[in-house]
Amino acid sequence: MSKTDKIPAHVAIIMDGNGRWAQARGLERHEGHQAGVSSLRNVIYRAARNEGVHYLTLYVFSTENWGRPREEVDMLMELLCRSIVNELDELLREQVKVVVVGDREGMSPTVVEHIDLIERETADCTNLTMQLCINYSARSELTRAARRLAAKAAAGELSPEAITPEAIADELYTRGVPDPDLIIRTGGEQRLSNFLLWQGAYSELWFTPTYWPDFSGDDFDAALAAFAGRHRRFGKVEEQE
Ligand code: FPP
Repeated sequence: MSKTDKIPAHVAIIMDGNGRWAQARGLERHEGHQAGVSSLRNVIYRAARNEGVHYLTLYVFSTENWGRPREEVDMLMELLCRSIVNELDELLREQVKVVVVGDREGMSPTVVEHIDLIERETADCTNLTMQLCINYSARSELTRAARRLAAKAAAGELSPEAITPEAIADELYTRGVPDPDLIIRTGGEQRLSNFLLWQGAYSELWFTPTYWPDFSGDDFDAALAAFAGRHRRFGKVEEQE
């Protein structure tokens, strides 16, 4: 196994614990999200400077998150737009290409404008591709893929036999991006919460009790070190590898 096999080319993160971090300090939940942006910056640039990591996928806002109090949702959307404006120059300097994954139908025109802007401006960046999952859930993504394949079949463009795992992957938002090697979840829960259910079939999982606003570059390195010690078999036995 070469040295680069030990570095996950694609890392995905469920950034959990912002609310509890704020609560533990007697702060408002939105202050936890604000603090989470600093952790996010640390991790993005740490990943961009790591020669082995090429993709970073972040669970920013799930389709279920619309059910949170109105002020928290508005504040998260505002924080997203503000962060896009504030971070654009640094993302360009560090050569981070931003791609937004999820259903844009449910987003406000202002949010869509900001997303379009960051995707357009960073389209040619080459150090790291960062996928931001916004208004995303894996089940909605898979339902959308099934509908798209069914429409092609109904139009006579696709036979049932042509519906292969590759054909399904081609209809996902993440089309063309390799599956995550490592999924990190902060905040102590040990579940996937409707995140990358198809793409994560063989991902290594790494959980930490640390709340997202306390997650540092060193914690990111600790997750990469844990990954390097894992033995991946992809359903085969050792001799076949
Ligand atoms: C989970 O914590 C976090 C979120 C739902 C939002 C993630 C957003 C950020 C890290 C900052 C904004 C992002 C960008 C791209 C500007 P939680 O609220 O579920 O925490 P809890 O489980 O402790 O309540």
